[in-house]
Parts: sequence; C-alpha cells; structure tokens
Amino acid sequence: MKILVATEKPFAPVAVKGIKEVVEAAGHELVLVEKGTKADMIAAIGDAAGLIVRSDKVDKEVFDAAKQLKVVVRAGAGYDNIDLAEATAHGVCVMNTPGQNANAVAELVLGMMVTLLRNRYNGTSGTELLGKTLGIHAFGAVGRNVARIARGFGMKVSAFDPWVKDEAMQAEGVEPIHNLEDLYRNNQYVSLHIPATPETKKSVNKHLIDLMPKGAVLINAARKEVIDEESLAEALEARADFRYIADVKPDNAAELEEKYADRVFFTPKKMGAQTAEANINAGLAAANQVVAHLKDGFNRFQVNK
Ligand code: 3PG
Repeated sequence: MKILVATEKPFAPVAVKGIKEVVEAAGHELVLVEKGTKADMIAAIGDAAGLIVRSDKVDKEVFDAAKQLKVVVRAGAGYDNIDLAEATAHGVCVMNTPGQNANAVAELVLGMMVTLLRNRYNGTSGTELLGKTLGIHAFGAVGRNVARIARGFGMKVSAFDPWVKDEAMQAEGVEPIHNLEDLYRNNQYVSLHIPATPETKKSVNKHLIDLMPKGAVLINAARKEVIDEESLAEALEARADFRYIADVKPDNAAELEEKYADRVFFTPKKMGAQTAEANINAGLAAANQVVAHLKDGFNRFQVNK
C-alpha cells in the first residue's frame, strides 16, 4: 500500500530514512512530499492508505480527495490541524504520537528564556533564572519536561492542571496549584502548554495577564490561538515590565517586534520540535503506528471517535 508523508516543514533526513525503512519493511511504498502546499498533498493522496503529517492542515478537501485512506498520524502532540469530524465521517482513524517530541519543545522554552533574559547576547547585563518562580499552565508531556529542566536551573516550579494528581506533580518537585488565577498571580514566569481547542482559544486573556507580577514573562510554545492577541498587545503597551516569548508568533508579530524589540522574542518559524531526535522519535512512532494500523487496526493513540 502507499503511505504518504506530507510535511511542509521537513523531518531531518535521518528521520526520513528511518520512516522509509519501517514502511518498506512492512511491504508498503513511501511517497514523500516535503515543503509542499495543501494542493501538493491533495495531488498525492488519492491512492494513499496512510498519511503522516506534522502541523499540516488535513481538512475536508484532503479527506474528499483521499479515496483509499485508512489512517492519519500526526507526528507530534497537537492535532488541531486535523478535522477530526471529517476524518470520522470518512472512516479514517487519526492518531498522534504523544510525548515523542516533548523534550525538544521543552529545551527550546528554556533556550528562548535565556536568549531574551541575556538581551540576545548583545553585550549588556541580563538576568538569571536561578531562584525565580515558574508557573506551568498544563502539566502534560511538554510541561513536565519544562519543569525538569527549569528545576535544573534552580527555578521554583509550580503547575496548574486539573487532570493531573497533586502527587504526580509533587513527585517531580513541582508545587500543585489548584486555581488558575493563582498560577498567573504568583509566578514571574508562566509557560503555556495547553492545546488549542474551542475552550482554550483566546483563554489566556487580559484578566490572566493582568494578574502577573512585576517583571512578568509569558512564554508560549503551545499554539498562537490560545492567547488573546489584543490583550497581549495591550499588556505590552501598558506595562514596560511585561515580556512575551513565543515559538508560535502572533499575527501582529512584526508590529510587536518593531515597538517592543527588547521585550519580545519570536522564532521565525515554529522550531520547538525541530531537532533530529524529536523528528526520529515522532517520525518513527508515526511510521510504526501507520504500519500497525494497516496490519491489524492498531489504534492506541486514536484521537477521533
Ligand atoms: C506538536 O504539536 O507536536 C508541536 O507543536 C510540534 O509541531 P511541528 O511538528 O509542526 O513542529
């Protein structure tokens, strides 16, 4: 059968090699569409039984064009790019590969923090993370890795996540916070790790941002949709002490960079999961899951019903 890997942001070559080996060892054919558009994906999907993507949009148009498709695996965590209702309507199983790229995203979070706090290494004095407070908004795989690395820097780490037991946080040296407002009120640094869902869209709003203490730094390596961009612009304008770091830059990034150059940091392209290790972990997991689904209906990480 044909398995299509369609990624606008290509996997590292070593990961592609591994994916190809897994696919071919199972007797399937790999078709690679890298740096392509949705039209390129649609042109290649007609006879594919499996599809592997990253943040690439998989919507009704794609599902309508896919005549043989049985499984889509999002090589990564967030699946807000995939229309799950359309997948279900077309009888397609959608899975993600939870945790496989989490360390890469977490390392970038701390890296971006140091970059901004050291004034982009421009020769002026910056500040340190040792002894500072970090609040983690959602303690999933990425949040847990951020906590581990931040504790290595000597930060005091707390987290809000109604789905995670106190003991699980405490076992990792993280203080559980039961009220979201307290997370924002009591931490100089807050790092966002919530998925983009209808409930979380624009949920990091003026109310929460205004609660943050003096010298506040908000870090978003999750999705741009979760922050209310108007509130963000207002906070940067109203508070000379407020800083914002994002791996998923807002729509008004250029304007913010021009106005508040020393208080914002944005990666030019989403880079969190862009390491050889994360590509190998997520890419191979995706390939194995596609192959297993085509063999015997494996659906352990299915996200649509
Ligand atoms: C994820 O949800 O796994 C991350 O945001 C990484 O996304 P990417 O594969 O598009 O880099």
